[in-house]
Amino acid sequence: MSCVVPDREATDAALGLAVRAPSVHNTQPWLWRTTPAGIQLFADTARHLPATDPHRRSLVVSCGATLHHMRVALAAMGWASTVEYFPDPADSTHLATIVTTRRPPTDDDIEMAGAILLRHTDRRHYIARPIPVGHIRTMASRVAACGAAVRQVPEQFLPRLAIPMRRSAAQHATDRAYQDEIARWSGPDRRYDGVPSRNAPAPFPAGEIPVRTFAEPALRDPSDHPDAAQWLVVGTAHDDRLAQLRAGEAVSALLLTATGLGLATSLQTEPLGLPDSRKEIRTGLLHDCAHPQAMVRVGWSPPTAAPLAETPRRPVAEILEV
Ligand SMILES: Cc1cc2nc3c(=O)[nH]c(=O)nc-3n(C[C@H](O)[C@H](O)[C@H](O)COP(=O)(O)O)c2cc1C
Repeated sequence: MSCVVPDREATDAALGLAVRAPSVHNTQPWLWRTTPAGIQLFADTARHLPATDPHRRSLVVSCGATLHHMRVALAAMGWASTVEYFPDPADSTHLATIVTTRRPPTDDDIEMAGAILLRHTDRRHYIARPIPVGHIRTMASRVAACGAAVRQVPEQFLPRLAIPMRRSAAQHATDRAYQDEIARWSGPDRRYDGVPSRNAPAPFPAGEIPVRTFAEPALRDPSDHPDAAQWLVVGTAHDDRLAQLRAGEAVSALLLTATGLGLATSLQTEPLGLPDSRKEIRTGLLHDCAHPQAMVRVGWSPPTAAPLAETPRRPVAEILEV
């Protein structure tokens, strides 16, 4: 089937949704290019975070998330897509080319795209209300369709997660380069990227599983109960760039599905840049059967929680080359 490329207006509209994808520290480390042969995705390595993400895992996972968002947006606009991964052996930053053909959108396509604008990282406490097993199964099947797997951390295994989370937080607390990076990428005055203070609550109290802390947190957390989030680990059979990219697609599918089900979500990856902590998660939670690519807190926000502010994004014109 030959490729029919969306026109400039349609591409801009789809990219307007694709850039809403989550990315590590909201770095948005991606560049897009349109050609007659397809829509190309590149990693923007100038936006790499060496202290936070020394192996560039989160950079590639972030690019996978925007790739999936783009495909979801295109599908809702009547474009089916196939992806050629790493099409240029001479250029490792060329992550994917999307090839499109015309196809009417399904109800699922429209629902997934609708979730893009509703999804936000919610770093506040979640309330103690069970997540129906069917919801977890739905998320797991969408993750599996992207070539990854998800494991829900059983309650008795939460200490196996808490230990590497605590250790990485303690290690980073005294890591000057890491702290400089946090200060550069978060705080009150974020215009186009980074994690704004208004999206970051104060650190969780001692005794709870610590989550990544950002500069000058200013988000009010209405809950005075311990966090009741469920934790999911997204893993892949391999740990090469392709697996990481596909894990990003899987993470996007998981987050959009959860959002559609009314669930709050928050990605957490602080231990994954540190080999010992990463290994502990791989062994302790995935039994050495898969490589951890991201953890996701998932649950219900308290009814009293205020809506979250939208995080900033770079303008489409800055990330698109025609
Ligand atoms: C690969 C990856 C790693 C992330 N790691 C963390 C993390 O460790 N802690 C956290 O609070 N948010 C994390 N996030 C979420 C981003 O900070 C968030 O997506 C970004 O600030 C944009 O905000 P939004 O998700 O509300 O659109 C991560 C996102 C991605 C894609």
